[in-house]
Amino acid sequence: MAAKPIVHLCEADVAEGLEEIAREELRNKLGRQVTVRQPPAAQALRGIVQFTHTGDLRALTTLKTVQAVFVVKRFAVPRPKALLGDEHFRAILDLIEQARSTQPDTFRSLYLSAAGSDSSVMRRLKHELSQRTHLVLAEEGDLLVRVRPSLWARPDTPSSNMTQKDRGWDVLVRLSPRPLATRSWRVCNFEGALNAAVAHAMALLTRPTAQDVFLNLACGSGTLLIERLTCAPARLAVGCDMSREALDCAQRNVAAAGCNAILWQCDGQRLPLADHSVDVVCADLPFGHLVGSHGQNVTLYPRLLAEAARVAKPGARFALITHEVRLTESLLAASQAWLIDRTVRVELGGLHPRIYLLRRSG
Ligand SMILES: C[S@@+](CC[C@H](N)C(=O)[O-])C[C@H]1O[C@@H](n2cnc3c(N)ncnc32)[C@H](O)[C@@H]1O
Repeated sequence: MAAKPIVHLCEADVAEGLEEIAREELRNKLGRQVTVRQPPAAQALRGIVQFTHTGDLRALTTLKTVQAVFVVKRFAVPRPKALLGDEHFRAILDLIEQARSTQPDTFRSLYLSAAGSDSSVMRRLKHELSQRTHLVLAEEGDLLVRVRPSLWARPDTPSSNMTQKDRGWDVLVRLSPRPLATRSWRVCNFEGALNAAVAHAMALLTRPTAQDVFLNLACGSGTLLIERLTCAPARLAVGCDMSREALDCAQRNVAAAGCNAILWQCDGQRLPLADHSVDVVCADLPFGHLVGSHGQNVTLYPRLLAEAARVAKPGARFALITHEVRLTESLLAASQAWLIDRTVRVELGGLHPRIYLLRRSG
């Protein structure tokens, strides 16, 4: 008789606001191997997607819209001290082995993340784990182990009736030595570069097809351009930016990604493209913090939106991320050219930019 497949409890860290897009990616990419767990309440578990997975855990490391992915075990214990008991400790080692087996020989160091990680219990836990796994302890180590009060309590138990023992503690182990949003193609870092998982989600929002003529306006180091081409090929993919330095960086990243894209140094207010020639635009416009200023954006944004409208075909999609929420919304409210199909508020490094999914009228 065939062995019963192992069902793993899993969890992904996601930029807040992108949970639904990450759930969709999980279902589309892994189909029947995953069962996505719906959060108990609309506001619950922001930035987290929980699911069960059957099969090879390596498949989870191909996810593109999540920041990181973990295997999880919930322990029905009242305090983390009980995790040091023989049975529980062996279960944690087993979880670590599952994670390490996805990329053998790549994990060298271990990092324990927990509230109160300096408490005597957590110190003991990390030292014993380090000894038994032969991984050295290091800040930001490869093998990330997270310990926290459980977020996997049974959904049928009302939280008001729950003791800490009912709730228990979760141990999570990250499946990759670096967050998945850290891409191997990024050989050139660029101040103000967009998080690659967020860029990937934006590309997916435009429903990419191989027929698209794609423009990454103000492409910087090429994050949106590369992530779009990771989703699907394009008939033509162009990145444009005014800055030579940004384009040199984009060139290196595009080459490392092995993408087929054209890079142009030009002003996005005067694009060398014919009217109505582009199917999809993506842009991460200057937020006015690290790149540009609010004063400059007041002039720049309306001109870029108008120029994007000129080159866009009727019905073209435009995914735009910006922290200039008031400015953008007032421009879009007055725009005859761009209709808002969807707005997604995301959390990014303490800021709350919006992604606007726009459609060209006409
Ligand atoms: C927030 S950065 C984009 C970062 C990019 N998404 C990345 O991941 O590297 C904004 C970019 O807009 C470019 N930019 C500003 N004004 C522009 C203009 N008028 N035309 C073209 N690019 C412009 C800047 O040079 C900068 O690279």
